Amino acid sequence: MKTDPFALRGTICSSGADCRLRVWEDAFLVCEDGRCAGVFEALPERFQGVPVEDCRGKLILPGLVDLHVHAPQYPFRGLGMDEELIAWLNRRAFPEERKYQNLDYARRAYEIFVEDLVRSPTTRACIFATIHTPATLLLMELLEASGLSALVGKVNMDRNAPVYLLEGEVREAVAQTRLWLEKSAQFEHIRPILTPRFVPSVSDALMAELGSLQREYGLPVQSHLSENLSEIEWVQELSPESNFYGEAYQRFGLFGGEGCPTVMAHCVHSPPAELERMAERGVFVAHCPASNTNLASGIAPVRRYLEAGVRVGLGTDVAGGHSLSLFRAVTDAVQCSKLRWRLTDQSLTPLSLEEAFWMATRGGGAFFGQVGSFEAGWSFDALVLNDAPERTTLTLTGRERLERALYLAEGCRLVSKYVEGRKLF
Ligand code: GUN
Ligand code: FE
Repeated sequence: MKTDPFALRGTICSSGADCRLRVWEDAFLVCEDGRCAGVFEALPERFQGVPVEDCRGKLILPGLVDLHVHAPQYPFRGLGMDEELIAWLNRRAFPEERKYQNLDYARRAYEIFVEDLVRSPTTRACIFATIHTPATLLLMELLEASGLSALVGKVNMDRNAPVYLLEGEVREAVAQTRLWLEKSAQFEHIRPILTPRFVPSVSDALMAELGSLQREYGLPVQSHLSENLSEIEWVQELSPESNFYGEAYQRFGLFGGEGCPTVMAHCVHSPPAELERMAERGVFVAHCPASNTNLASGIAPVRRYLEAGVRVGLGTDVAGGHSLSLFRAVTDAVQCSKLRWRLTDQSLTPLSLEEAFWMATRGGGAFFGQVGSFEAGWSFDALVLNDAPERTTLTLTGRERLERALYLAEGCRLVSKYVEGRKLF
């Protein structure tokens, strides 16, 4: 995208490859053709005269990446958290998702979701829709118009749910999925991601067809993995030939590796062999600490994933998670890791705030390419945050201001947001 260069001036924070946070107290972040040209203490010669938005006194951060969120579950966020996964799906998620058969309802609900997502710190997301093709395309259309960049999946499911939320014959499910893929080609910033809901919801016959579609279209894949203990037992019964849950996807070519970028939500209870396979095949974990707490799934051993070389990002998992804000996900990830360390496993040190911030930006951003940092050449995805409304008598460094803003997110105000250089507001 050819656009005139411009710069933001303020306190700039961005993670390095090693999770280390870099902070410039007063510097210029330059955008050229949708990409970062770099962070500069003073504007270089070739950018003299470009328009500069004066954000001094504010924080400039990379946009945050939500690696796992269910758009149709947004209406019931913050409701009905007194159950574990399978009961919660049957009593809360499935009855709500049924409503997206009605395009008027879908429009009302998705307009709210997209408006709120635009106002949130998220610039990129991996989004589950429902099984319904028209409603999924509508969600993609609304997202495209918003200026965000996202991957959106029409959900596939043909077993173990009420009939009102099943796709019926495999042939019909494949035809609908193809129709959705073909119609998705109209969008520029919103792209399709293959979305088998999870192993219990998808028959072997449909999973095999999805594997073929993945190869035919070269699609990325998203699903759920090793979230809850009863779910894992169920998968063992449904797929006895798999040594672990992840193999029930890999059997059909839907678990990372060459040409198959894959993100799996949760991985709270992944055995060592599963983790090893994920590291080998480059499968991303979408760590969703709020959801894992609300649905009493457990606390994912994120430190172990990092040590094993598994790629990790953060997800809100609305509405298992109650908040659309990734600032919450960052601090929840830190807090959950501390409880896990204190209560169950002293061998895994807690996550630092810098590590969790890295996961929400660079960690998850890697699923989208060069995203999540202000390195030269990377996508210009940026937030300008006014942290002044949270009053204090202290004089804070830029690093302290970021820490405080992440914890006191509600009191701070997002002033502007850019995705690939496009100004959303
Ligand atoms: N596993 C299968 N479907 C879902 C869902 O909608 N939310 C969560 N958290 N886990 C799932
Ligand atoms: Fe989920």
